Amino acid sequence: MGIGLGTDIVDIARLERLIAVGDQVFLARWFTPEERAYCSGKARPAAHYAARLAAKEAVAKALAWQWTGPVPWRDIEIRHGPTGAPVVRLSGKVEELAAARSVTGITVSLSHAQGHATAVAIAAMAG
Ligand SMILES: CC(C)(COP(=O)(O)OP(=O)(O)OC[C@H]1O[C@@H](n2cnc3c(N)ncnc32)[C@H](O)[C@@H]1OP(=O)(O)O)[C@@H](O)C(=O)NCCC(=O)NCCS
Repeated sequence: MGIGLGTDIVDIARLERLIAVGDQVFLARWFTPEERAYCSGKARPAAHYAARLAAKEAVAKALAWQWTGPVPWRDIEIRHGPTGAPVVRLSGKVEELAAARSVTGITVSLSHAQGHATAVAIAAMAG
């Protein structure tokens, strides 16, 4: 079994600025309706959006991403399992890419502090 590892860190203030400038256009480009519903319901939405942005980048790194053209970030969705732990749901082109690479599962972990949010992703690959 092979392993792909990825990590990313995002400045929460940068997200606050992007949300303020781009508003729904920026959010709709990067996040699924379910992600937006979760984050917008939080006391500090930008921290949760930043963690998801970091998680999407971390998953891309774990998949050893070589993408040409616009990156379909909504194809990497962060949901929650029954314990509250984050769960990755792939769709579209990213799901196809993962299947082509024999990815059998992706695990992510998220964290946010006052200034930054971070995420780590591990992709397990058969063979
Ligand atoms: C859940 C917990 C680990 C989160 O840690 P924290 O230091 O408060 O917050 P962090 O910023 O580091 O992490 C927050 C992220 O942890 C993730 N998370 C939540 N519950 C989790 C869990 N049970 N396991 C793993 N990750 C979890 C979420 O992705 C969350 O970010 P999100 O709301 O944007 O999705 C913390 O609340 C805790 O230790 N709780 C007590 C133990 C506990 O309840 N464990 C779960 C048992 S089922």
